[in-house]
Amino acid sequence: MNPLLRVEDLSVRFGGIMALNKVNFEVAEGSITGLIGPNGAGKTTVFNCLTGFYKSHGGAIWFKGADGDVNICTLLGAKLRLDDLTDPRKLLQKIRYGFFGGTHLVARAGVARTFQNIRLFNEMSVLENLLIAQHRLVNRNIISGLFQLPSFRHAEEAAVDRAYQWLKTVKLEYYANHLAGSLSYGNQRRLEIARAMCANPRLICLDEPAAGLNPRETRELADLIRALREEHRTTVLVIEHDMSLVMSITDHVVVLNYGQVIAADQPKAIQEHPKVLAAYLGTEPNL
Ligand SMILES: Nc1ncnc2c1ncn2[C@@H]1O[C@H](COP(=O)(O)OP(=O)(O)OP(=O)(O)O)[C@@H](O)[C@H]1O
Ligand SMILES: [Mg+2]
Repeated sequence: MNPLLRVEDLSVRFGGIMALNKVNFEVAEGSITGLIGPNGAGKTTVFNCLTGFYKSHGGAIWFKGADGDVNICTLLGAKLRLDDLTDPRKLLQKIRYGFFGGTHLVARAGVARTFQNIRLFNEMSVLENLLIAQHRLVNRNIISGLFQLPSFRHAEEAAVDRAYQWLKTVKLEYYANHLAGSLSYGNQRRLEIARAMCANPRLICLDEPAAGLNPRETRELADLIRALREEHRTTVLVIEHDMSLVMSITDHVVVLNYGQVIAADQPKAIQEHPKVLAAYLGTEPNL
């Protein structure tokens, strides 16, 4: 397996609760990997660490970025240290990712996400939501902006083109100028995916994308997720409670329970795994 993401001994505490306790798993490049587990197992906490919302208390998250491997955990607290100056590799990464750390660096490395509780700018149009998502890719030179130089205009046009391309892919072209908050639940979920994809990620993390969708919308979502991998060559890590969706789209499934990985295997094997059955049925495995 060629891992795009390698989570090593990741641990997160909230007061006395060990939300993640030495979590280890890998996501193969080009795969659709499922992250499942009962409520409160720690799935969203993994995403929050992956995307820089939470800092872990231990472990590492290795991500194969465009410029080589980066440890997302250290990117977040990436203040310049003396020993960085003596290590050319570390110094290059600091120059590339900045000297002060922060969640934007995770996006720059190539990780994007959607949220379990949809987070859109409800008072902005659908198109504006997609343009904001691209601020990292747009020319922000103040001089070229002030004088509307060709490089600035081209970057803006490219951002609008990219936004429309994604609106078309997620079948929301008609709603481009509608307020995001006025869309149906299913459309908002697809808009969130489009927004994440506008940033050109190498890895997209989807947190319960099928929650609240009807069966037809769920089937369309399955096709969209497959297209992210097949047509847009993006690796997908998806948290989902809809087991038939997980079993139909994933190549590999990681199961969390009480902050620990209890199984990681192909979907078919996961369905029959005694520890997984016990976790979902609330009984102790008879092993
Ligand atoms: N910010 C926080 N402060 C305190 N406790 C938290 C915080 N975030 C998560 N937790 C706790 O960590 C544990 C894991 O929560 P998490 O949201 O990761 O679970 P989950 O697997 O995503 O569950 P669900 O399927 O219900 O979304 C839970 O016990 C939760 O209460
Ligand atoms: Mg969750």
